[in-house]
Amino acid sequence: MSDTGTLFMPPAGSTLSSEVDSLFYFILYTAIVIFILVMGAIAFFMLKYRRKGARELTDGRDHNLKLEILWTVIPTLLVFVVFIWGFRTYIKMHVAPANAQEIKVTAQKWFWSFDYQNGYNSVNELVVPLGKPVKLLMSSQDVIHSFFVPDFRVKMDVLPNRYTQAWFEATQPGEFNIFCTEYCGKGHSEMLGKVTVLPQEEYATWIEKASADFPEGMALNEIGAKLYQSKACFTCHSVDGTISVGPSFKGVFGKTERLSDGSQNTVDENYIRESILNPQAKIVQGFQPVMPTYQGTLKDKEIDALIAYIKSLKE
Ligand code: CUA
Repeated sequence: MSDTGTLFMPPAGSTLSSEVDSLFYFILYTAIVIFILVMGAIAFFMLKYRRKGARELTDGRDHNLKLEILWTVIPTLLVFVVFIWGFRTYIKMHVAPANAQEIKVTAQKWFWSFDYQNGYNSVNELVVPLGKPVKLLMSSQDVIHSFFVPDFRVKMDVLPNRYTQAWFEATQPGEFNIFCTEYCGKGHSEMLGKVTVLPQEEYATWIEKASADFPEGMALNEIGAKLYQSKACFTCHSVDGTISVGPSFKGVFGKTERLSDGSQNTVDENYIRESILNPQAKIVQGFQPVMPTYQGTLKDKEIDALIAYIKSLKE
């Protein structure tokens, strides 16, 4: 990425960037000019009309019509300019072009998942074509999150039980950060993702391959290790024994855990599968029931791979 942004703004990566930036700079520079004018006038009058002698009287001047009209009309016009300009940009940002490609965005504690129209889904990585509008249809499975790509000037709250929308058209290839900007719990600051912008031909090849299944010749537990990263399991489950939001995966297979209802349960294949698809069913004592379901996000074979990976993490 050649564009490194400016002092005030990150690099400009979408068609909306220049719209937002020019309005921002208009407000900034106007404010600076007015600030200098007002402060300059204060300083000037302070000197000019300072008390010079003990018995000096002010004259009876009380108003100046021309000046008053001037300082009412100019700011009013400026405010109108900002309003009309801002409103037009707002409409542009919120109404996606009719030909936009739609991608479903789901937020949950604490990762993003993306569903493409061809059935492919990914976690924390959104791949989009260069120079084509992309519309995001967003909802949350739990609390309020907020989808933010600073380089695209795209930011929209993601709510449970409701759809919100955002759209953008990327103007340069590369990788751009996605942040969650609504405090959503312990893992909020780790709720990170990236948008990868590919030139159109590359995107076409990618989306074709993306729906294809597993990489050939990889052991199941290696695939599981990849999924552990790509599906963001690491946000809550460590593999080194550290206790985080959820139990660590290290040495957990075969262990007998005490559950929140007091009963005991051995961690076997079925328990892991149930915990992935229906996480609230059996909570290990001492942990909160905060995990979202991966029903529909993980294919059966991917669940198998994760089980194989967890098995491989011996104490
Ligand atoms: Cu999701 Cu903060």
